[in-house]
Amino acid sequence: MNNRTLAIIKPDAVKNNYIGQIVKMINEAGFKILGLKMVRMSKQSAEGFYEIHKERAFFGELVEFMTSGSCVPIALEKSNAVEDYRKLIGATNPAEAKEGTIRKLYAESLGKNAVHGSDSDENASKEISHFFSREELLNNS
Ligand code: RTP
Ligand code: MG
Repeated sequence: MNNRTLAIIKPDAVKNNYIGQIVKMINEAGFKILGLKMVRMSKQSAEGFYEIHKERAFFGELVEFMTSGSCVPIALEKSNAVEDYRKLIGATNPAEAKEGTIRKLYAESLGKNAVHGSDSDENASKEISHFFSREELLNNS
């Protein structure tokens, strides 16, 4: 069964001009793009998106980074989407990411780690709704 995940090309990768290469890797890994846009998140939007991390020491830094420039949220569909996309991006810390993964290739550091990926089907659905209305997804899906 096909399911969904939310990718975000984060501000560091947008600034470094990696949008094209990252979208190509996502396509070649077999994901279907349901929605894609470029947005500069407000503080309120970033705090809401990362609400699960609000008690963590790195929360302020994370929100500051995610609002530091535009990012590119992408709604994706594939069988086993959440797990397969997280395999494609690699470990949170690029120093620990496997060769050939998006973070190994394009991330700068643990904080500036190039891409986001949902961690469960439930969160994927919430995260896609954070950025996209139904009308903004492929064929209003
Ligand atoms: P993401 O949500 O961005 O896809 O990343 P993730 O699941 O691999 O990692 P998560 O635990 O959800 O953390 C969210 C983001 O917070 C930053 N972080 N900084 N300084 C730190 O110890 C620390 N730990 C995490 C990372 O940029 C991570 O992507
Ligand atoms: Mg996460």
